[in-house]
Amino acid sequence: MNNQSTYDTMLVALDIGTTKISVLVAQKVSDEGLTVIGIGKAPSYGVSRGVVVDIAQAVHSIKLAIKEAELMAGCTIESVCIGISGVHVQAFNSQGMIPIKNGRIRPHDVSSVLAAARAVVIPEGQQILHVLPQYYTIDNHHRVADPVGMFGVRLEAQVHIVTGAVASVQNLVRACMTAGVEVSDIIFEPLASADAVLSPDEKQLGVALLDIGGGTSDFAIYQQGTIRHTKVFPIAGNLITHDIALCLRATIKDAERVKQEYGSTLRSLFRTSEQIEIEMVHGEETTMVSIDEIARIIEPRVSELLMMVHKEIEQGHLENLMPAGIVLTGGGALLNGIKETVQISLRVPARVGNPHVPPMFKEVLSSPVYATAYGLLLHTLKKNKGVALNELSGPLMNRVFYRMKSWVADFF
Ligand SMILES: Nc1ncnc2c1ncn2[C@@H]1O[C@H](COP(=O)(O)OP(=O)(O)OP(=O)(O)O)[C@@H](O)[C@H]1O
Ligand SMILES: [Mg+2]
Repeated sequence: MNNQSTYDTMLVALDIGTTKISVLVAQKVSDEGLTVIGIGKAPSYGVSRGVVVDIAQAVHSIKLAIKEAELMAGCTIESVCIGISGVHVQAFNSQGMIPIKNGRIRPHDVSSVLAAARAVVIPEGQQILHVLPQYYTIDNHHRVADPVGMFGVRLEAQVHIVTGAVASVQNLVRACMTAGVEVSDIIFEPLASADAVLSPDEKQLGVALLDIGGGTSDFAIYQQGTIRHTKVFPIAGNLITHDIALCLRATIKDAERVKQEYGSTLRSLFRTSEQIEIEMVHGEETTMVSIDEIARIIEPRVSELLMMVHKEIEQGHLENLMPAGIVLTGGGALLNGIKETVQISLRVPARVGNPHVPPMFKEVLSSPVYATAYGLLLHTLKKNKGVALNELSGPLMNRVFYRMKSWVADFF
């Protein structure tokens, strides 16, 4: 922002999705609250399966969305918090241990144990994005969320480490910089979406989030208030649209329209013999197709995605971590019947999660497609608050979101 007096309270989120770019500009009104003052949205080009594949095209799309948000907010955007996803993102749990020298745990002991937990071999070409504390153990028996001030001789930390391909991160940051905005933070997208749509109780009891976007479906499990597992699946809404276009030899644009208007994941629920018109691939003729036929195309692709999710849950023995079921978000969650299909195939409760936006923005932003962008805003709000609390103690921040350093600077 160029307005120095409000600089500290301005938050900007940039969600570079496979199908759309969204920008949200907000003003911090209290430690817990924000008010959205600018929204920008543009179709996304140059992004495939969550990663930038054509910087020039991505820059153009980002600029359009930024401009729109700037016009509405009446300010210049200089720095943004962005999301990252794609199948290059990998995650695993790790632990670290240190002896406590003076009996009582201090903030720097927490930093040291987290540094020990992150000291793992990262595959060539990958870079750590997040080291997220799950819990700490003191002398093997106390399991605590914040160990500072407690006594013991041995401190252990369990963490969730998220890594991403260096090249993909560089392309993303380069696209933003070329579009004229600095990147202040990069957040793994399902973490942002989870903050926007999950309730604290769901996170405490144990719940899974599935953000079905255009290019990827991002999965995250929370339990006891912390992140337990994350995974990116390569099947999402665009593939379903392509399947419809391919099977019916229709234009991609019309396949998308038909999917949104008439598509469903469950033929038995929405069975109908009604016929609809669809544009042929050469764009000069239309043909009639039954709504049932469209569902018949969608069903197997959704089953394929849910089989991957099922396998991930089974292989990781994650069933017991999600008694509150699955919350579906992202544009794919708008597909008719998806909630019922998830309930039937994964045998867990399911609901569609809209971002928990303040009442006055409900009409505009309360859609699963804004889950990531709104979650990014919440993250920057939390971080902003963290800066204010910095002198009180380091672990307050660590507990929420531990970042080893401002690693964007490492790349450039
Ligand atoms: N009403 C609807 N019914 C069915 N599908 C929908 C509907 N609205 C949007 N979608 C699908 O949602 C997908 C886009 O979702 P979203 O905006 O969350 O993705 P994205 O953030 O651009 O992509 P990604 O997160 O994968 O990079 C598209 O495939 C679109 O077809
Ligand atoms: Mg998305």
